[in-house]
Amino acid sequence: MRVLVDGDRGYIGAVLVPYFQAAGHDVVGLDVGWYDGCDFGPPVSGYEQRTGDIRDVRPQDLEGFDAVVHLAAISNDPLGHLNPGSTYDVNAHGAVHMARTAKAAGVPRFLFSSSCSLYGAGGDGKVAEDGAFHPVTPYGESKVMAERGISPLADDTFSPSYLRNATAYGSSPRLRADIVVNNLTGTAFTRGEVRLQSDGSPWRPLVHVEDISRAFLAVLEAPRESVHDQAFNVGRDEDVVQIRTIAEQVSEITGAPVSFAPGAGPDTRDYQVDFAKIGEVLPTFEPRWTVPAGIHEIWEHANERGLIAADFEGERFVRLRRIEALAASGRLDLSTLRLHGEGAVTS
Ligand SMILES: NC(=O)c1ccc[n+]([C@@H]2O[C@H](COP(=O)([O-])OP(=O)(O)OC[C@H]3O[C@@H](n4cnc5c(N)ncnc54)[C@H](O)[C@@H]3O)[C@@H](O)[C@H]2O)c1
Repeated sequence: MRVLVDGDRGYIGAVLVPYFQAAGHDVVGLDVGWYDGCDFGPPVSGYEQRTGDIRDVRPQDLEGFDAVVHLAAISNDPLGHLNPGSTYDVNAHGAVHMARTAKAAGVPRFLFSSSCSLYGAGGDGKVAEDGAFHPVTPYGESKVMAERGISPLADDTFSPSYLRNATAYGSSPRLRADIVVNNLTGTAFTRGEVRLQSDGSPWRPLVHVEDISRAFLAVLEAPRESVHDQAFNVGRDEDVVQIRTIAEQVSEITGAPVSFAPGAGPDTRDYQVDFAKIGEVLPTFEPRWTVPAGIHEIWEHANERGLIAADFEGERFVRLRRIEALAASGRLDLSTLRLHGEGAVTS
């Protein structure tokens, strides 16, 4: 299939694109390039990379594709808080614009990268795909708005699917330090301690970035009727764990002791998710990774690639720091989250 992947130059995209290519698909990327140069090892190359903002995409940009994989977003809570209005603009209105444009261009499939954070404060039980939405942040709200905006577009010619990913972990050529397993492991490597930012009690569903890619591939290749206007929680039941358990695993594997950051308190983002549906509907989706294996992977890559604290805690790997640095240097307008001088999509 010929697939347009937007957000291809981010953390998940840099793993998903080679994974799709290895499965025989022809990939074209589209990304505004906020994290260009923020590399962890050799950058991904060998495919057409277009530069542009999803909010400016026109039908002629999407003609001839069999599917759009929509990853581009303000990708976490701290970034979302920076400017909630722009977060809705990119993550909700931008996502709906991409879906509408894909449909107008005759693209039959649309895979939306949603998030388990739309369930928010989920209460005591495990929440399945038909569970209520209680997002507690603008980022979570933006994913709810996007799904609700895209779903009415579904018809005989257009099949959107919503992949509600758990919190990702694992190595990527565009590593992120601001997600929990990566953060704890990288800090163990660079600082010699497993430093918790909360009291460690919240539950978090986790999934390896390569298993996310596996889920997208399974949806892409599934018969249309099994994924048409369907949501899937993407993760593994075994990997719904308390943050303190992750800290203990990192400590055990790396030998670094656990410590608490000053002011570490409770975290309201506490939810447990039911991952049964994806395995039942998509039997080709077989997650391969475990959290301990992911900790080993990051540790080994940190060693091979010489990870240092200044990089791990700075703009190279922390999305918020990078956006703040782009704004401070005058390259990005924080009120609109637009790069200066950026125009229509270019090859
Ligand atoms: N990483 C996770 O733990 C996780 C979990 C659940 C859902 N998700 C979702 O998966 C997607 C990818 O996440 P990620 O971790 O790779 O994020 P990321 O921040 O590493 O990458 C996002 C990419 O999108 C690009 N982008 C942002 N706004 C754009 C715009 N307006 N036009 C064009 N490109 C734009 C950025 O330049 C970047 O390359 C996001 O939608 C995110 O919300 C991620």
